[in-house]
Amino acid sequence: MQAKIISTGSYLPKKTISNAQLESLMDTSDDWIKTRTGIENRRISESENTSVLCGKAALDILKKANISASKIDLIIVATMSPDYLSPSTACLVQDYIGASKSMAFDLSAACSGFIYALSVAEKMLSSGNFHYALVLGGEVMSKMIDWNDRSTAVLFGDGAGGVLLESTDSIGSFISEDIHSDGSRGLALTAGALPVTNPYSENHLTDTYLEMEGRAIFDFATRSVPKSIEAVVDKASLTLSDIDRILPHQANSRIIQSMAKKLKIPFETFALNISDYGNTSAASIPILLDELVLSGDLVLGTGKKIILTGFGGGLTWGSMLIRI
Ligand code: COA
Repeated sequence: MQAKIISTGSYLPKKTISNAQLESLMDTSDDWIKTRTGIENRRISESENTSVLCGKAALDILKKANISASKIDLIIVATMSPDYLSPSTACLVQDYIGASKSMAFDLSAACSGFIYALSVAEKMLSSGNFHYALVLGGEVMSKMIDWNDRSTAVLFGDGAGGVLLESTDSIGSFISEDIHSDGSRGLALTAGALPVTNPYSENHLTDTYLEMEGRAIFDFATRSVPKSIEAVVDKASLTLSDIDRILPHQANSRIIQSMAKKLKIPFETFALNISDYGNTSAASIPILLDELVLSGDLVLGTGKKIILTGFGGGLTWGSMLIRI
């Protein structure tokens, strides 16, 4: 059995916040944010939590596929901003869409989460035990960040996206993958700390906002991700010229420019929508994929070869070469 992507979808909260609007909240400027990151706007949720963003993205995916939620066997939600530690966001999504027979769980790999979740779902469908799987990436990053910290607050946004996978006897979508973790560098990006605090502990509650060594993450991404892109191409016995588009995690357009330079390929090979949404962590790749399908840039079933590549907290990073 193999797994095939048969539908894409996304959902973004309605409220758009521009760089100029952030100028009234903190000491920043449209020019600084645009030139250092490529971000111009981001969507911010006013009340919908991660499970609702993911649930709405799931309904969009199912509607486009004309498949009922009752047929779904598996739901994986990649997120670093769940509604609760328990129940999982995926269980909340299962209830929201009425996928009563599905197995559902969350996966934590920060901004690489969608890549990790796709990889896991592909293996589960290949086992022959699952037929339809919803793989979602969704985040409400706006509840994770310190709105007084200009070095992180300007970077992130909220949203959700995903794909529907179907198991098939014929050719599937997945050609090769290259996925890594390095826990030894984990503290370079932390969020939602849960220290031991109880009547007997020495600790006191600390703040749990996202904290990041921006420059270190920048260097890690520009060093590790091009190698991972080359690895999936090599494993498939292809060359970069065989690849139609690369869909990178949208963290910073300068990171993507550096990747293009290192790989010696045109910047235009990389798809970008960071200017509209900022960094939506696990949601960024599936939102981008859905936009490219909606615009007709990518057409499901044509067999074009694309690479999805993510990187972020953990540290985690990885790429998948797929036929769309
Ligand atoms: N507005 C205006 N000035 C800001 C600012 C903001 N929002 N944020 C930081 N600055 C200031 C800093 O205080 C610093 O000032 P100083 O020189 O007086 O100390 C200056 O801008 C440069 O800061 P620096 O951190 O060196 O900038 P940078 O060019 O490294 O860009 C990031 C910062 C965060 C945009 C960049 O490092 C980055 O994108 N890193 C990767 C982060 C990421 O993608 N994380 C998610 C991983 S998935």
